[in-house]
Amino acid sequence: MRFSRILCNYMSALLDTYAAWPFELDHGKNDVVVSADGVAYADWYGGHCVTLTGHCHPRVVGAIKAQADKLLFYSAAARLSIRARAADALIAHLAGAGVERVFFCNSGAEANENALKMALKATGRKRIACFEGGWHGRTLLALSATDDAKIVAPFAPFLVPATQLPFNDVSALLATDFGDIAAVIVEPIQSMSGIRAASSAWWQTLRARTAAAGTWLIIDEIQTGLGRVGASSASLLMGIEPEAITLAKGLASGVPIGATLFSGSAASTIRQGDLGSTFGGGPLAMAALIATLEVIADEGLIERAARIGAQLKAQLPGAAVASVLGEGLLLGLRTHEPGAGLKKHLYDRRMLVGASGDPHVLRLMPPLTISDDAVAALTSAINELGA
Ligand SMILES: Cc1ncc(COP(=O)(O)O)c(C=O)c1O
Repeated sequence: MRFSRILCNYMSALLDTYAAWPFELDHGKNDVVVSADGVAYADWYGGHCVTLTGHCHPRVVGAIKAQADKLLFYSAAARLSIRARAADALIAHLAGAGVERVFFCNSGAEANENALKMALKATGRKRIACFEGGWHGRTLLALSATDDAKIVAPFAPFLVPATQLPFNDVSALLATDFGDIAAVIVEPIQSMSGIRAASSAWWQTLRARTAAAGTWLIIDEIQTGLGRVGASSASLLMGIEPEAITLAKGLASGVPIGATLFSGSAASTIRQGDLGSTFGGGPLAMAALIATLEVIADEGLIERAARIGAQLKAQLPGAAVASVLGEGLLLGLRTHEPGAGLKKHLYDRRMLVGASGDPHVLRLMPPLTISDDAVAALTSAINELGA
């Protein structure tokens, strides 16, 4: 019998699709989660890169409770001022990134699916392009662009034709004819495959080549967006204005949400009825989104992500960690030995970190509110290995 079943008999009907932490989680507060038997863990994993404002931030919880009392749900069949305000607040948060209009859905895969669908429709083309190491979700268009054989292979006959290019390779971009490609989808930092980034020259070339061919550039900011990389969006950091930016994960501090943000020209191709979702833009998620953006601004979390990221990059390399990859608080610890050993060392010291597709890269994706004490504890736990 699996460990999780011994711990949680009530979960016996739940499909066992995830290799979960070996404890039952009970509650969380800011950067700490506590197991059912009272053990506290520093959450450097962030609930899978979700808890931007920490667990149960009082302003986010308060906004959700107030909205629940007022109106729990109504679909897009009704105009809701909170939905309009959330869209405006989100566009304002990304000011300078070139996006003007928003469609709300419920997850990252849906946000990408919607962006890809709109690009296929607008261009009339039948092929998309993506990159080695890219990860965009489990719905069929997003999966078509995902480089993860074990989840893609069973569905290969149902996927759209996709040209997979090497990541961060300018000559490959120059050699590609984008004329029949509806959209290129790309993560600013490839997270799942091991915190892989590309050069500024590569991004500029990608934008120039796709613009010249009338190909949409879709930037998947599902992990990098909203402040995590030390800027309100990675697109802004790179100086790239795409046709679409997709967001999810921490956008509503853990309430399910996804968003596809379109440039003015991309939005002008979308007609009433082209996109739809029963739950997308629901008032609870909208209340949580507005509160999340307010907390990010009022608590200076973007600057905090940049500062702590820089601190960790300076402090962590040593006997266990060869280098620290990434930006802000989306970081990869490149380990000398396979990362599983360091992951276990940290787990034994009650610190949760993530693995990646690269066995030598562990991922840190904590709340942007991670405390200075947690940073000091992680640093000393890692440096202890050099002693
Ligand atoms: C970069 C990226 N895009 C898309 C997704 C899919 O998001 P979701 O699981 O909300 O569908 C993920 C999920 O981890 C992701 O990391």
